[in-house]
Amino acid sequence: MSKEFKRFLVTAALPYANGPKHIGHLAGAYIPSDVYVRYMRSIGKDVVFVCGSDEHGTAIPNQALKENTTPKAIIDKYDAQIKDCFHQLGMSFDIYHRTSEPIHHETSQEIFLNLFNKGLLTEEISEQYYDDQANVFLADRYIIGTCPKCANPNAYGDQCERCGSTLSPRELINPKSTLTGNAPILKSTKHWYLPLQNYEGWLTDWILKSHKDDWKVNVYGQCKSWIDAGLQPRAMTRDLDWGIKVPLPDAEGKVLYVWFDAPIGYISATRALFKELEENKLQFATPQRDFKNPKSNDWKPYWQDGDTKLIHFVGKDNIVFHCIIFPIILKAAGEYILPENVPANEFMNLEGDKMSTSRGWSIEMHEYLADFPDKPDVLRYALLTNLPETKDSEFTWKDFQAKNNNELVAIFGNFVNRALVLTQKYFDNKIPSRCALSEIDQKVINDMKELPDKIGASIQAYRFREATAQVMDLARLGNKYLAETEPWKLAKTDLEKVGTILNISLQIAANLSIVVEPFLPFTAQKLRAMLNFQQLDWSKAGAADLLNAEHSLGVASLLFEKIEDDVIEKQIKKLLDSKKAMELASQPVTPSKAEITFDDFSKMDIRVGTILSAERVEKSKKLLKLQVDTGIDKRTVMSGIAEHFSPEQLVGKQVTILVNLAPRKIMGVESQGMILMAEDKDGKLRLLQPNESVSPGSTVS
Ligand code: 2FM
Ligand code: ZN
Repeated sequence: MSKEFKRFLVTAALPYANGPKHIGHLAGAYIPSDVYVRYMRSIGKDVVFVCGSDEHGTAIPNQALKENTTPKAIIDKYDAQIKDCFHQLGMSFDIYHRTSEPIHHETSQEIFLNLFNKGLLTEEISEQYYDDQANVFLADRYIIGTCPKCANPNAYGDQCERCGSTLSPRELINPKSTLTGNAPILKSTKHWYLPLQNYEGWLTDWILKSHKDDWKVNVYGQCKSWIDAGLQPRAMTRDLDWGIKVPLPDAEGKVLYVWFDAPIGYISATRALFKELEENKLQFATPQRDFKNPKSNDWKPYWQDGDTKLIHFVGKDNIVFHCIIFPIILKAAGEYILPENVPANEFMNLEGDKMSTSRGWSIEMHEYLADFPDKPDVLRYALLTNLPETKDSEFTWKDFQAKNNNELVAIFGNFVNRALVLTQKYFDNKIPSRCALSEIDQKVINDMKELPDKIGASIQAYRFREATAQVMDLARLGNKYLAETEPWKLAKTDLEKVGTILNISLQIAANLSIVVEPFLPFTAQKLRAMLNFQQLDWSKAGAADLLNAEHSLGVASLLFEKIEDDVIEKQIKKLLDSKKAMELASQPVTPSKAEITFDDFSKMDIRVGTILSAERVEKSKKLLKLQVDTGIDKRTVMSGIAEHFSPEQLVGKQVTILVNLAPRKIMGVESQGMILMAEDKDGKLRLLQPNESVSPGSTVS
């Protein structure tokens, strides 16, 4: 028998507020957690759902450097952006907090001191890489060098992405700081370590023995390999000027490690929720239920009472932190419960490649919402049907279109629309009453009855793909029922029978509005308005009498719209263009040539000329023979631009020409001068032209 919990605390990984988040993040932690929580609420459970921005770590000041601004400006910008996207996508957090808030700094420092005062942290002095031009100790990610295992020249200080080896910065050959490009020096520094190895026995019992059967295979497997490999002490502090100050007298310039403070963010978010509720000063909280006379201390049972089920939803790269390091911190701190489950997902790839914002190969939440503002549920559905629950999965725009057109529109939307429109047509938009049931009516009622429990069981087992398919099975059931009974044909002969069919169909629609809510909350709301049915109680789902005869329906409209091919093609092109733009931006610029004097420069006679004629040169792919009016004379110039311009494109164009370049013979023709061009990083040439037309011979200086 599994334990009955009194309350639930559900967390979704706190996203780094260092940039936009993409749909892979949604598929990893956010959409699954929201489905889970919405379902638990609708079966009447006491649930608190927390999330917020992770605003510390080296990634934030580094992004500030890139954007030429301050870390504070970065977190304010991305916290607001991410929060707004989550809201538009229907994420139903009770609170979306920030780790830059004072209550979080206090909570983290309190827990650090708790561990320190109990002697559970060790102090160690070690030598670490330091960039003496930037005056900072370098986090592992900010050191690159040659991988000792595979000779990849761009391996990071913590990992080689080519061969997958885990590295430490000191193993890199020829290390360089990514901040300045300089070779870092070694410098001594003191830090406080959590001796993870002391908890190996306890972890073995807690995870490897107690959670062997209820944790997902991918999660359990990762934990096992960490524990089997032997745990090492891990520094809980860093040398950095951005973060939570280490609350000790001899810790100037040191902050808490971001992975120490971030998960504590779940605790401070819960504290902030109840504090805001008690003080009625809601800033980050959008409570999704009535907390009935909340007091600021009410956060405690959610974290400290064994009757609370704590569940962390995260992506696979966060498993070790949520299953090993944070539980050790909680255990060491003493008064806290531990996660009952960490149903981590694997990664979602995109159109055959890894999703990555920095490589331009991703669909950012804010971009999706800008292009499809009225379709948050279509994205939720496309992700839910394709969640990387047991292995990496793949999002493609074609699949997104197919899921929308062939499932949401053709099955769900079509069924609901037919039931509503026929009721409008034959029964004045009121639920008709039922007469004697045929075998097929009875069967559909029976089938419907079973589905809500099946869906609930799948959700509770964290099988959200399966649960989504089961919801669609209910819509399919309705669609098939209408196709088989054909009420539109019966209307002329047996209106009573039509009434029965529509009554049953509308009961299915009302059931759908309940069971689809965790998955597609906006659709559920629209459907409930159309049915004029506001109840959202899962315990009633499955019943064939949710709507009484004579109940008036609301106004029918389409739940989903078809997505045309050109919309999808535009998205694919956008993706390819953004990847190309990122590739170009990340290519090194050509270094500057050696210095010259002003006299050197003034030796060049550069003029604006007009191209009078242009022709291809036989046997040459690259050359064009141009006649140019230089203002001084009319002359021939051989130019290697045939792959970039057709002769017709050039005639009549003004160009910049170096006129005193010594003549030379090219393919037997004397070339007298050189046309100047701008060459892009991708090798594309463009003419250099004055911004307004000038007379031929105008000098350039
Ligand atoms: O991987 C990430 O995006 C981290 N910011 C997740 C932190 S989860 C929690 F610990 F706060
Ligand atoms: Zn390698």
